[in-house]
Amino acid sequence: MALVPFDDRDGHIWWDGALIPWREAQLHVLSHGLHYASAVFEGERSYNGNIFRLRDHTDRLINSARLLGFEIPYTADQVDAACKDVLAANGLTDAYVRPIAWRGSEQLAVSAQLTKIHLAIATWAWPKYFAASEGVRLTMATWKRPSPETAPTAAKAAGLYMIGTLSKHEAEACGYEDALMLDWRGQVAETTGANIFFVINGELHTPTPDCFLDGITRRSVMALARRRQMIVIERPIMPEEIGQATEAFLAGTAAEVTPIREIDELSFTPGQITQALQKDYDALVRMTPDEVAKIAA
Ligand SMILES: Cc1ncc(COP(=O)(O)O)c(C=O)c1O
Repeated sequence: MALVPFDDRDGHIWWDGALIPWREAQLHVLSHGLHYASAVFEGERSYNGNIFRLRDHTDRLINSARLLGFEIPYTADQVDAACKDVLAANGLTDAYVRPIAWRGSEQLAVSAQLTKIHLAIATWAWPKYFAASEGVRLTMATWKRPSPETAPTAAKAAGLYMIGTLSKHEAEACGYEDALMLDWRGQVAETTGANIFFVINGELHTPTPDCFLDGITRRSVMALARRRQMIVIERPIMPEEIGQATEAFLAGTAAEVTPIREIDELSFTPGQITQALQKDYDALVRMTPDEVAKIAA
């Protein structure tokens, strides 16, 4: 399939308060965000015209910026409205939505106190993240998620994706769909763009998100599992324990709920629990925001 470059598409992008033609959304090369990774972003999905858990994403965006030491110059209400506007302006109802905030080009040095903070929001149709519906194959990454003393790990910050891209490229080069990353202690963390769950003795186990993203999908899946009376356990998980799992799956805005077929030499068969939560999640994302709030608050 031919690649359509992201800078050469039709449509509109919301940029610092206005909708502008897609191809005009150009950034100066001497932007602080580009050189020093002073950028935070979100990944959201709209289903039937509703952006799933929009306010949670907006709150995380604003908080990510604060963790990087800057304040997005729009309120959460304004950011929510802008996300909806850009979706409508592009005539999309089922799409991915990508807000990004970054430091501008007023200063280009480590110190950047006087830079202007920008916000842009784009949207595009984006069906499934993983093509393999029967499950994905993962390999262990060589890079480790850093400790919260080393990086602002709770932020969805551009700089934290540097090791994600390296890990994903390494995995793809070996024929895998993605990489499973451990953290600096050697505990299981997440993949390069999603959280991970294991079914062990019929219970749902997932790593405690103390140095990686506490995904909004992850939290939704935990709520759905509890509604099914399942036991959900957040805890440190060592890689040696993965072999005890009978099922494993990924959870993320892009990945949604995706079964895992293999992690290196270990194989899993997507079973009843994964399928039930996949079904519940598919139903949840298509509910109205009020219904979602009641189920996955
Ligand atoms: C590194 C990483 N972990 C986890 C997630 C899952 O987060 P969410 O469910 O909020 O999309 C994502 C996706 O945004 C991610 O990029």
